[in-house]
Amino acid sequence: MAGHSNYVPQSAAAKWLESRLPVISLIRGSFVDFPTPKNLNYWWTFGGILFFVLIAQILTGVVLVMHYTPNTAMAFDSVEHIMRDVNYGWMLRYLHANGASMFFIAVYIHIFRGLYYGSYKAPREISWILGVIIFLIMMGTAFMGYVLPWGQMSFWGATVITNLFSAIPLVGEAIRTWLWGGFAVDNPTLNRFFSLHYLLPFMIFGVVLLHVWAFHTTGNNNPTGVQPKSKQDTLPFHPYYTVKDLFAIIVFMIFFVWFAFYVPNYMGHPDNYIEANPLVTPAHIVPEWYFLPFYAILRAIPDKLGGVVAMFGAIAVLFVLPWLDRSKVRSGSYRPLFKQFFWVFALVCVALGYLGAMPAEGIYVTLSRICTAYYFAHFLIILPLLGLFEKPLPLPASISEAVLKGGSAHPAGAVSAPETK
Ligand code: HEM
Repeated sequence: MAGHSNYVPQSAAAKWLESRLPVISLIRGSFVDFPTPKNLNYWWTFGGILFFVLIAQILTGVVLVMHYTPNTAMAFDSVEHIMRDVNYGWMLRYLHANGASMFFIAVYIHIFRGLYYGSYKAPREISWILGVIIFLIMMGTAFMGYVLPWGQMSFWGATVITNLFSAIPLVGEAIRTWLWGGFAVDNPTLNRFFSLHYLLPFMIFGVVLLHVWAFHTTGNNNPTGVQPKSKQDTLPFHPYYTVKDLFAIIVFMIFFVWFAFYVPNYMGHPDNYIEANPLVTPAHIVPEWYFLPFYAILRAIPDKLGGVVAMFGAIAVLFVLPWLDRSKVRSGSYRPLFKQFFWVFALVCVALGYLGAMPAEGIYVTLSRICTAYYFAHFLIILPLLGLFEKPLPLPASISEAVLKGGSAHPAGAVSAPETK
């Protein structure tokens, strides 16, 4: 990454530091001089948005912890104490709770961007796989965070999900007891979930650094999927993309705080304002919205172990996606058939989300089964076949050609930045 830096230390102190720890040239090579395709659209700002939300979650979380008590007798009341007594505690809590939803909105957009533009394809397989690992850790973090307020949904959600592990043959029951730290979801469970909920975001941060390292090694993908061929195809990251990302972050932040300040409980469940009670099961146990598609897949399979395998399989299949899609063309913009199947797939994922919120009976179960089958067919049958039979559209010779095609208001030379000439 530092290889892209034009940095030459000027002062004696800067030279001293550079020869011992070249951190300035590393940062400049990665976020200032880094050559970035000049045609990135707004879908490429979601990586930066995700980074912003991750930092916001860590900061609000660290302050919330100062007032929270991870004990079943006090957790629920300590959250009420944060809401009522702590200065701006309500704001911190609403920002953190809605921040989790914002994180998932941004990550789903980021993933679907990657799926459409073929960002998972060679040579970016490692960026993609690290992304799937981040996604898994994010889900674990969000699941354990939701248990901490110790409301009814916290308790029963934790009970349903940890019970799934008992479906594993032979060792399932032992694993479940080990996860619980006892024989039911109780104080030891809350305590370890709290510990892990604090730890995992820092692990996400570490994997994000690897993620950035990986796509800085291969260079970014772009909407054409065509590799930059000359300096004319790229712009330095700063100021072009720092400013664009900052603008996108501010717009996203308005959307985010609108939820946190005007409808802070819109994405939550009212039952979580009732303290956990192991003797009263809620009428419907539903996870947070971002887990609903996976919950629908879990319940679509009549057998418990089969459901668990399908649910984890839905994520496992993403790990091997770079090898399932055999098409030579990267971007969906030049793949007429893929494009249509992509939108059907997106619709199926939304349908699964809806079905996950419905009771597991009648037509809902039938539809969940059809959508689950389609989800797997998309990756295991449709993509491999498209790679063999689809006739892609002709690709532009370069990014510059694609950008200028169709007539530009400017002569070609005026479009590229002075630095890249
Ligand atoms: C905390 C979560 C994440 C953060 C902070 C993050 C950050 C970023 C950033 C800053 C970029 C470059 C800009 C952009 O393409 O938007 C990027 C690219 C990428 N991300 Fe993520 N990401 C996260 C999660 C994920 C996940 C869950 C996946 C996939 C499952 C993923 C897959 C990719 C891929 C394939 C690229 C390369 C795209 C390209 O080269 O243009 N990321 N990520």
